[in-house]
Amino acid sequence: MTVQEVRNAYFEFFKKRGHTRIPSQTLIPENDPTTLFVSSGMQPLVPFLLGKPHPEGDRLMNAQRSFRADDIEEVGDNRHTTFFEMLGNWSLGSYFKEEQLSWFFSFLTDELKLDPKRIYVTVFAGDDTYNIPRDDASVAIWKKLFASKGIEAKDVYIGTEEAGYKEGMQGGRIFYYDAKKNWWSRGGVPGTMPIGDPAGPDSEVFYDFGEAFADPAFRDKHEHPNSDSGRFVEIGNSVFMEYVKKDEHTFAALPQKNVDFGGGLERLTAATRNNPDVFLIDVFDGGRKLIEELSHTMYTDTVYQASYRVLLDHLRAATFMIADGVVPTNSDAGYIARRLLRRAVRHADIVGLPQNSLARIAATFIPPYEAQYSALKQQSKHIYDTINAEEEKFRTTLTKGLRQFDKLGDRDISGSDAFILFTTYGFPVELTVELAREKGHRVDLAAYEEELTRHREASRKGAEKKFKGGLGDTSKMSVRYHTATHLLHQALRDVLGTSVEQRGSNITPERLRFDFTFPRKMTDDEKQRVAALVNEKIRDALPVTYKDMSLAEARKLGAIGLFGEKYGDTVRVYQIGDYSLEFCGGPHVTNTSELGEFVLVKESSVGSGVRRIKAVLK
Ligand code: SER
Repeated sequence: MTVQEVRNAYFEFFKKRGHTRIPSQTLIPENDPTTLFVSSGMQPLVPFLLGKPHPEGDRLMNAQRSFRADDIEEVGDNRHTTFFEMLGNWSLGSYFKEEQLSWFFSFLTDELKLDPKRIYVTVFAGDDTYNIPRDDASVAIWKKLFASKGIEAKDVYIGTEEAGYKEGMQGGRIFYYDAKKNWWSRGGVPGTMPIGDPAGPDSEVFYDFGEAFADPAFRDKHEHPNSDSGRFVEIGNSVFMEYVKKDEHTFAALPQKNVDFGGGLERLTAATRNNPDVFLIDVFDGGRKLIEELSHTMYTDTVYQASYRVLLDHLRAATFMIADGVVPTNSDAGYIARRLLRRAVRHADIVGLPQNSLARIAATFIPPYEAQYSALKQQSKHIYDTINAEEEKFRTTLTKGLRQFDKLGDRDISGSDAFILFTTYGFPVELTVELAREKGHRVDLAAYEEELTRHREASRKGAEKKFKGGLGDTSKMSVRYHTATHLLHQALRDVLGTSVEQRGSNITPERLRFDFTFPRKMTDDEKQRVAALVNEKIRDALPVTYKDMSLAEARKLGAIGLFGEKYGDTVRVYQIGDYSLEFCGGPHVTNTSELGEFVLVKESSVGSGVRRIKAVLK
């Protein structure tokens, strides 16, 4: 089946069972500063799992675009991706274990037509420290479900993953594992969870792709569902969220018993094809074929396969991130986007792709997803340009950086060398780690972090000092922010309408702040469009010029900005290409290409009808 077919089948199935579809949130979590990216469908639903009524009812479903940065290094095998779509259904105090397990089993076997004999499940073994009982109820339900397909399902205690390699399957179908495997919360096992978070035991479903797919490296170990051999792949997880962490030692019952189900859409699709390689499902077809065509290699060439997978995964992830407003920068989500793209450049070189192929590969993801995610199509040019620009930026230093790396010789890499590779050659430290690992060496990450902190501290102090004296670089930064403010002002009018008027502006060497009239919060889409427009004008390298003229003439030309008595009769009007015309005393840069990258950091309210934008240049 195709991704689209599986997604539709799932929605149809759960719609029949009373579920309302809720939209996929953007990859950047709203009102949740604890994580950079949405990494599961339940994340935006926490308040409702804790008991707040959801406006759409108590049975919800969606396909949530998700990103797990922790898995970046895992990409290269047949089943790990950083970006994925998680199919989710939730019961907010409506149904519980009986319905959830029966429905999911029926979805797998009746709708996706998976062979029930290839299905194995795990359940929670209980936790004495926190007094949480073993999940016997789920075991009884699973036994009944397997029996309905003529399968006798024996339950077997395993405990830890390590124990599994020693004990093996023991003829079992249902396996008990400890909290590390069968307990779910945003914060991990009971001990590490933050107080106040919801959690519960879970029951995972594994699909057995068959012995042929087991990694030979695991030959000496026993198989079990949670083994990493690749033979068993997790395709769904039903979390029974019925607890909340009260204090360091206690869990209490939530006011309602919830279900939080999540299943990887790509893996479910792979199961319908009886091949665990998620990179062979339809959404990757275009990209895979394009790489083959451009590089004259084959996906099946074992020397190149891991690089193909890195390219396909990272470029799909970057495509969705950029559509959701992330731009490659040196911090936070932007840093992850940069890391993905720079890693992709390296792997593009390994398979021998011509320069500037990345954006073309990224473009292959738009057709298979545009029906679900219209932003991809709308922003296709922006996505293409951003990826191309990042590739070019990195390429100008990549060769030199690799030469520098090679010069370091056959040894471990010090913190300061890793730091120089980052600041001078744009190597995200993880890339240095990867290059070092390929040669069997390590990077002194603790020293690198120290170096980075020292550097940040020094530049902060330096900026403060310069600002006080009003000198040199600081003035230059302020001038850049001044020009960026003009671009922002015009972009806001283009996106939000000409009722937008400046109310205030404040510039420091580190940021700009701009207040303007607008009656409501800007949507994410509007913010993205404004930032994209400013960046477009920066990339267009527009000349900045000025003319002195009479106020009447300036008004006639349609110049915008704060003006009035203070300017007298003759006014100065700054013009940025043919984009912006604004009253202003200056000074400004001479060309927008001097601005760097514009990042809209925050949009907020400063009283009725006035909004404030904070933005930085990188
Ligand atoms: N929250 C659970 C998970 O991420 C199920 O959706 O696995």
